[in-house]
Amino acid sequence: MNGRFSIKGTTQILCLIGHPVAHSFSPIMHNPALQELELDYVYTAFDVPPRNLEKAVEGLKALNIKGCNVTIPHKEAIIPFLDEIDPLAAKIGAINTIKNDNGTLIAKNTDSIGGKKALKEAGCTISKQKIAVIGAGGASRALNFTLAEEAREIVIFNRTVSRGKNLAKELQNKMEIKARGLSLEQKILKKELEGADILINTTPVGMYPKVDNSPISKDLLHEDLFVFDIVYNPSKTKLLKDAKSVGCDTLGGLDMLVYQGALGFKWWTGHKPNTTLMKKALKKHLGI
Ligand code: ATR
Repeated sequence: MNGRFSIKGTTQILCLIGHPVAHSFSPIMHNPALQELELDYVYTAFDVPPRNLEKAVEGLKALNIKGCNVTIPHKEAIIPFLDEIDPLAAKIGAINTIKNDNGTLIAKNTDSIGGKKALKEAGCTISKQKIAVIGAGGASRALNFTLAEEAREIVIFNRTVSRGKNLAKELQNKMEIKARGLSLEQKILKKELEGADILINTTPVGMYPKVDNSPISKDLLHEDLFVFDIVYNPSKTKLLKDAKSVGCDTLGGLDMLVYQGALGFKWWTGHKPNTTLMKKALKKHLGI
C-alpha cells in the first residue's frame, strides 16, 4: 500500500464472492490498480457458502457495494437473484461480474470478453478461423460463446465426450456456428488439428504442481497453430513450451485473468486500470 491510501467513511467497496476465496487473485490485482489511480475504493473477498448466496446478493444492495466478482461455485447459481443479465452471459449461462447501478444488479461474463481480448492483443486472428478447444467446462463455455461470434468452426475435445457434444450442440443452436464435440484421443486430435488455426487448452492439465503434464502430445502440434493455454501457473506450461519449440505463436493464461478483472474495474469505477501493474502484482504473488 502506498502512503496516500487510507480507508475512510467515503470509501466504496468492491468485492469477490465465492467459496472458498482465501487464495483468490482478485484482491491482489485490483487493490494496487485502485491505489495507483487514487480511487476511493477497496477490493475485498467474502467467503459465501451456497446456502447464504441469496442473502449475500441482498447484502450487496443493502450495503451499497458498488461492484462484485463472482467465482466458483456461484457463477451459475447466482443468476436468478440478479436484476439484469447481459445477453452473451445469458447464452453462456454463467456470470462473473456484477455492477450495482443504484440498486439494480447488472451482470456480465468478463471471462469471456477478457479471453477474447487477450487473444486479440496477442496478435491472434479469430475471424473465420477453425478453433480446437480442449475441455468443455465453465471456462470453455465462456470462451467458446464469444469466439463463436467470429470463428468459422469450433471443435471441442473433452474427456467426457457427451459434455463436449452438448456444448457443441448449444453453440450450433445459439450462435449458428459449425461446432462438433469429439473425444480427447490423440488420433482424433491429430486429424482435426491438421486443419485448425487456433488451439486452446481450458482444462487444468499442466497446472502447478503437475507442471510436466500436457493435454496433448508435442508431435500433434504444427507451426501454423496459435496455442493459448488458460493455465497461468506456471506462466509457461508444458503445452506452451512444446508449442514454442515447434514454432507456434503462444499465449498463457495471465492476460485473460488480468483482462477479465480490468473490464470489471473499468465498468465499476469508470477508470481504466493499469493492466501492466495488475499483471506485475499477480506475477509477484505467484512468484513467477
Ligand atoms: P472450469 O470452470 O475451470 O472450466 P470445470 O467446469 O470443472 O472447470 O471444467 C474442467 C474441464 O477440464 C472439463 O472439461 C474437464 O473434463 P470433464 O468434463 O471430462 O470432467 C477437464 N479436465 C479436468 N481434469 C482433466 C484431466 N485430468 N484430463 C482431461 N481433462 C480434464
